[in-house]
Amino acid sequence: MVLMSKRTLRVSKIRNGTVIDHIARGKALDVIRILGIDGRSGGVVTIAMNVPSKKLGTKDMVKIEGRELNPEEVDRIALISPRATINIIRNYRVVEKQKVKLPPVVQGIIKCIKPSCISNSKDEPVKPTFYVEQEDPLRLRCHYCNNIMEEEDILKQF
Ligand code: CTP
Ligand code: ZN
Repeated sequence: MVLMSKRTLRVSKIRNGTVIDHIARGKALDVIRILGIDGRSGGVVTIAMNVPSKKLGTKDMVKIEGRELNPEEVDRIALISPRATINIIRNYRVVEKQKVKLPPVVQGIIKCIKPSCISNSKDEPVKPTFYVEQEDPLRLRCHYCNNIMEEEDILKQF
């Protein structure tokens, strides 16, 4: 019995907070960065990488004790991991399960990397707008200058 429980030991459940599940493999640290978590304050954060998953083969997972995400944070996660699931945990129960959703048009989360793009001009009140050309790996096309942004250009902004 003891051996058995050792073998099946998994990351512990959390009491209150958020479990971000089905993160694309290798993206857990990007999720952490996107959420501005540096480990210097806040509650317990658990990161699991390369966990076996029925749906994805292997996946990453992030558990954040004592924090629920706001809609903008969920949208950012959708950009880098379009199949992630956000579970809100209260008193050990999953009270809400939400699949992130990458919209076909991304507005207001990131900026165009081309400095000369009109969306970067201080005098023009234009909202940065991008079309999703490819989901995974992410490629976005700027509505104003047609410039293509790669995943790396997007991650740099968080
Ligand atoms: N979880 C947790 N702490 C809790 C409750 C759940 O860390 N108090 C974690 C579970 O370990 C799991 C995720 O939150 O990784 C989602 O929980 P649940 O919906 O119970 O699991 P599944 O049914 O496997 O989820 P899905 O169908 O989305 O794969
Ligand atoms: Zn542009």
